[in-house]
Amino acid sequence: MRLTLFSFLYKIIRKISIMLYSFWSMLMGKPFDLETISDFGNRQLSHLDSMPFDLFYSFSIPNGIITSFLNYEFKSPLIAASFQPDKKALSRWLRFGLGGVTFKTMMLDPQTGNERPRLSEIMVNGKKSFINAMGLPGEGVQSFVNTILDENIFPREIPLGLSIGGDNKEEYVQVFHDINRKMSSIYSQLFYELNISCPNTNDGKMLSEHPDDLLYVLSKIREESQCPIIIKLSPDQDEIEILRMIETIKSVSDIGINTGNTSYMSREKAGLNEYNFKPVGGGVSGPSLFLKVLNMIKLLKPFKLPIIATGGIDSGEKAKAAIHEGATLIGMASALVIDPYCIPRINQYLGIHK
Ligand SMILES: Cc1cc2nc3c(=O)[nH]c(=O)nc-3n(C[C@H](O)[C@H](O)[C@H](O)COP(=O)(O)O)c2cc1C
Repeated sequence: MRLTLFSFLYKIIRKISIMLYSFWSMLMGKPFDLETISDFGNRQLSHLDSMPFDLFYSFSIPNGIITSFLNYEFKSPLIAASFQPDKKALSRWLRFGLGGVTFKTMMLDPQTGNERPRLSEIMVNGKKSFINAMGLPGEGVQSFVNTILDENIFPREIPLGLSIGGDNKEEYVQVFHDINRKMSSIYSQLFYELNISCPNTNDGKMLSEHPDDLLYVLSKIREESQCPIIIKLSPDQDEIEILRMIETIKSVSDIGINTGNTSYMSREKAGLNEYNFKPVGGGVSGPSLFLKVLNMIKLLKPFKLPIIATGGIDSGEKAKAAIHEGATLIGMASALVIDPYCIPRINQYLGIHK
């Protein structure tokens, strides 16, 4: 009852806020920028964090859905995929019932990303989806690590995913090193995710095109750490290329695969123009990815590597189907933005349909 009511209220408030902001943008003669209203929404929601009661978003995780992944323990198989720069939002979603979170991809230096607007809500096959060409904006690894340690908002035993990006192999290694040096002695369940599938930067797919460089980065990480390493694939990647890459890396210890980043679409195909979406194309996320995810799990099955299914998962049925095919964890991005109450809903479903 509480879940249904809050979910309904969240979606209504989100819709009204977007409509009002869109109207205001029109009046001001400015393009509608979804990122601005999302940031505003996150700031407003963070006021609720300090309220003395946590009626709005504290949900228990059903017994029996604890999941072991590369020897780490997740109270729920649901995790936040790497996309959310707002650390308070990630911490809130943990209270909704996520088993772990992955931080937004970290680059070595601060960067602004692509020109805005670069995020838009679109319909794909009649379903609400997103297209983004953020281009990995962020504060840079040093500032990221310092704020995580200063703010201290993540429980130390929660599995935390650090998504690593770079413009070349040495940068990947450096970002890993800077995080590992300061965080590994404090957080007991850190895992690293190599983002080798970003469609929105010039070199975002460089490591997937050069498996030897990927192997170099993996071996450098293994010199310093035995933490699990996840390789994040692209739904657009050629199957033969994927199989070749997996053959190259499968002997690395404690390695897992994340099925999916966003899928590239041109601005025109997405029904957008230069005024409301500056980059010429971007990565689509949301329900249209789900079939690709199931196919990717099937493709990877013979390798027996642990899998995080990410792409279009927004219901208990889809989460269950991905687990049934062979995934261990479920990564979510779009669904958390559209309605974070999907977290307790999916947890409940998984608790009943074990
Ligand atoms: C706004 C936005 C930003 C994203 N940023 C990242 C990122 O920094 N690193 C990454 O690996 N994936 C990023 N992603 C991709 C998501 O992690 C996820 O793989 C993708 O959205 C598919 O999942 P979904 O269908 O549940 O959204 C981003 C997605 C969105 C929508």
